[in-house]
Amino acid sequence: MTKFKRNLITTALPYANGPVHIGHLAGVYVPADIYVRYLRQKGEEVVFIGGSDEHGVPITIKAQKEGVTPQDIVDRYHRIIKDSFEEFGISFDIYSRTSSRTHHELSSAFFKKLYDEGKFIEKTSMQFYDEQAGQFLADRYIVGKCPHCGNERAYGDQCEACGTSLNATDLIDPVSAITGNKPELKETKHWYLPLDKYESWLKEWILEEHKEWKPNVYGQCKSWLDNGLQPRAVTRDLDWGVPVPLEEAKGKVLYVWFDAPIGYISATKVLTPEWEKYWKDPETRMIHFIGKDNIVFHCIIFPAMLKAEGSYILPDNVPANEFLNLEGDKISTSRNWAVWLHEYLRDFEGKQDVLRYVLTANAPETKDNDFTWKDFQARNNNELVAIYGNFINRALVLTQKYFGGIVPERGELTDYDREVLAEIPQIIEKVEKNLDSFHFRDALKECMNLARLGNKYLADTEPWKLIKTDEGRVKTILNICLQLAADLSTLTEPFIPFSAVKLRGFLNIEPVKWERMGDEVVSAGHQLGVPGLLFGKIEDEEIQKQVDKLLATKKENEMANAQVSAAKPNIAFDDFAKMDIRAGKIVAAEKVAKTKKLMKLTVDTGIDVRTVVSGIAEYYAPEEVVGQQVSILVNLEPKLLKGIESQGMILMAENADGSLAFVRPDKEVKAGSEIR
Ligand code: 2FM
Ligand code: ZN
Repeated sequence: MTKFKRNLITTALPYANGPVHIGHLAGVYVPADIYVRYLRQKGEEVVFIGGSDEHGVPITIKAQKEGVTPQDIVDRYHRIIKDSFEEFGISFDIYSRTSSRTHHELSSAFFKKLYDEGKFIEKTSMQFYDEQAGQFLADRYIVGKCPHCGNERAYGDQCEACGTSLNATDLIDPVSAITGNKPELKETKHWYLPLDKYESWLKEWILEEHKEWKPNVYGQCKSWLDNGLQPRAVTRDLDWGVPVPLEEAKGKVLYVWFDAPIGYISATKVLTPEWEKYWKDPETRMIHFIGKDNIVFHCIIFPAMLKAEGSYILPDNVPANEFLNLEGDKISTSRNWAVWLHEYLRDFEGKQDVLRYVLTANAPETKDNDFTWKDFQARNNNELVAIYGNFINRALVLTQKYFGGIVPERGELTDYDREVLAEIPQIIEKVEKNLDSFHFRDALKECMNLARLGNKYLADTEPWKLIKTDEGRVKTILNICLQLAADLSTLTEPFIPFSAVKLRGFLNIEPVKWERMGDEVVSAGHQLGVPGLLFGKIEDEEIQKQVDKLLATKKENEMANAQVSAAKPNIAFDDFAKMDIRAGKIVAAEKVAKTKKLMKLTVDTGIDVRTVVSGIAEYYAPEEVVGQQVSILVNLEPKLLKGIESQGMILMAENADGSLAFVRPDKEVKAGSEIR
């Protein structure tokens, strides 16, 4: 590495208002962890920072809904998130939190310094205020009708039905989400960072000096900068967050996006008294791993804050990823459309690396990508098991069988052996090049090429045939295979660290330094460990279970979102009274042949026993309806259905998904009782 002495790697601080899911892992934490593990293996100095973002309005809303404090919410989710990351091997040096005292002190001091130096501008504006609740309303606390799609429950910052971002003042008939009252506009004062003053500096720094940033990141920055920057409020009227350290700002806190990135600094400070070495020495290389929705904050706003403060370094790169979708749909916490990490671990115990592998192989590096359970299964079975695991297993089992698990000596090499050995450094170089430029998918592909090389070498040389005629040759072949296996354990460690450890156990070796790959690190005479399987096949039933779970979620969402049909125009009482509805009892039932939906019911109406054809066959079996009381409209004109005369109509309630349920008296009543 060039001008830098050490690395400061940060990962976006997830909001502690819910658990983390595969989208988080794929977009931010797995790539960052791969990068950090790689740097560490190469002997570089690294500090790897993570933590929970524990402020912001969604947390207060969740707390209010549950009747607990915001601190309760963040305590709960901080724990869950921290555990998930640990279990997936995200090797943070610290996983901190923004409710810590150090964080409050540091972000408060950061604000105060900028304030004292006159770096902010002050502005008053009109904001919605809830008189009864005695507080200003954050945009999320205001609901009303969306001016674009008419959704009655759009939020003051966004309509979730049509996805449009809104201003609270755009809403039609806005009400406070706290009291349901109509809010009034009231004057309030806030402090703004005048981003416009940093615009020309940012243009130079990003557009000229960082042309190497990923095209998606560079492009987004360019579009923000081309559109012109406006001053941004860095305070809010809210009681959850870091209090604004000014007498005149009672009841106000720092905007969550002002304090959150300072969380990287405070986490480093919690980790080490030498934190300033990481943050203030230009020989530190800082890299932010984030998702695309965070680009503006990390490339424009936070750098402007750091620049204004004056004593901190700026990021050298911000390799932001695009989004991961799930089975064709946007991942969403509120719709529960996600694969939650803690649930994955319950269903696929010990298979952390499979998910790490799949999420890297299919990482949303240049465009949004889709996670599907079928692809997950295929990559496990066809790649991890069939290529990598298979090669390792054959190398180990053959050595066990022919040489009692002792690494055989290498004899004279053939041209082919030399060719294979020469490919190793080439593959390593490709992996490095890709890792250095944050192309994790391609780096992983190259790793698998090393396993493929091993498989091909075994298939071409066929030691199982040679063993009868040329034991010396077999010794050489297996020696080379074991060296490949050792190299694979080193090369794949950043990506699938649990399997790397397992493999080293099979080989009975210690971790191998990155630069020693390609050397003969398992020497002849070395006793291997007990061989086992590196990866296990994933069966169709396990995948079906996951798919079914998602289908159930989809159905629940559809039910929850279904629009209730609009009310029909009023009718006169006399019109209603014309209907003769009675309580009846089904005495016999059978499906109507050659139809999916129809059932022929024989109903005792109290007046008579008659036949009714009803469209319930998809939801009820004949045997379960016999003996049931129902409501029946008895004076409906008879109608011929599939050749059967239907004499009346059974009343049913239709669910959002089209399923039907009987409408019946809630106590048994005499057949023929009038319903009105
Ligand atoms: O988008 C998010 O989930 C934010 N909580 C990320 C914050 S990153 C950093 F600035 F703290
Ligand atoms: Zn809308």
